[in-house]
Amino acid sequence: MQTLFVRAAEVAACSGPPRQAEDADPAAARQGVAVAVERGRIVEVGPEAELRARFPRAAEVDCAGGTLTPGLVDSHTHAVFGRWRTDEYALRSQGVPYMEIARRGGGINASVRDLRARSEDELVELSLPRLRDLLANGVTTAEVKSGYGLATEDELKTLRAIRRLASLQPIELIPTFLGAHEVPPEYRDRRDAYVELLVEEMIPAVAESGLARFCDVFMEPGVFDRAQSERILRAGLDHGLRPKIHADELEGSGGAELAVELGAASADHLGDVSEAGIAALAGSRTVATLLPATLFFLGRPNFAPARALLDAGATVALATDFNPGSSPTPSLPFVMTAACSRMGMSPAEALRAATAGGAAALELADGRGTLAPGAPADLVLWRCASAGEIPYRLAAPVVAGVWKGGVRVVG
Ligand code: NIG
Ligand code: FE
Repeated sequence: MQTLFVRAAEVAACSGPPRQAEDADPAAARQGVAVAVERGRIVEVGPEAELRARFPRAAEVDCAGGTLTPGLVDSHTHAVFGRWRTDEYALRSQGVPYMEIARRGGGINASVRDLRARSEDELVELSLPRLRDLLANGVTTAEVKSGYGLATEDELKTLRAIRRLASLQPIELIPTFLGAHEVPPEYRDRRDAYVELLVEEMIPAVAESGLARFCDVFMEPGVFDRAQSERILRAGLDHGLRPKIHADELEGSGGAELAVELGAASADHLGDVSEAGIAALAGSRTVATLLPATLFFLGRPNFAPARALLDAGATVALATDFNPGSSPTPSLPFVMTAACSRMGMSPAEALRAATAGGAAALELADGRGTLAPGAPADLVLWRCASAGEIPYRLAAPVVAGVWKGGVRVVG
């Protein structure tokens, strides 16, 4: 079966992740073009009359003056967890810092206690509506991390839940093992023993299960230091798990540099990345994944230096960091707004960072995140007259329809 998407005001091709001085992507916005889809893939993008003649029997989708873009690729989420942490938000709004709440027994370890007490079935049931929220915001591919189990069986339980969720809803899920999200309470006074457990038991078990593609570490002062992070990620590499790092989120500690040294897929957060870190990322294939919803929600005054990263030549992705502690939003369009309003990115760069940039951060090389022949027909129709209107319409519900592999799944 063939489908033709017609009458879009604009078709945003997103030819690749944003790069230096390439703001005016010539293929970014095209008027008067249609998109032909066959067997789950985009087969042609071209003038409407031409495509109608070439595909006379195709079913038509009337885009009614909206904007068509590739499906969004959210390359950093912690979408599988138990309860929300609403109580912490009240404390934070009164000025108690995130790391202080963690020291008092809240934070990630509060979610760990909660998740350990839940069954795999419960996790699936609780997470399904959250993935629906991501989908309703235009996401067609999402990375999901474990990291609230912090014990072999609880991490595997989380990864099994992710695999089940992948088959229960339309978003393609890319799983990441984040056993190094925090040191669990039972290892508080012997932190290196937890690193030992990760390297000797958890990583081999996760690799053996085939339930994760990436291995991630929260490298931050007071959590995992450089030596521990390197050891964990090298063990992951030895077992075929590609590295990612929560790097330089609140206080820089060389995470970006380590990510580049290890050839990591991405260095994420970068709220306090150093000049050396920016230079290292610029000269590498490691994607700088920026998560401004987190710094916004934590009330931090400064955002990651997106402009400096782009101008230096780094590849940039935008993601939600969807999680119950520091970023409870499923909205990548909001993240795009934050990137434009607070980080000096242009609307065109923000869209490419949330599509092709996310695909690069997940090392997906099937054209995903672009709207070009050969790419999967993962598409979003926006109630917007141009792609630039997506971040401009701050927090408005502008998604009119979502297609995954050519099948309509929203709208
Ligand atoms: O990316 N930084 C570590 N992990 C998450 C926070 C998770 C949580 O607070 O539950 C983050 O911000
Ligand atoms: Fe995170």
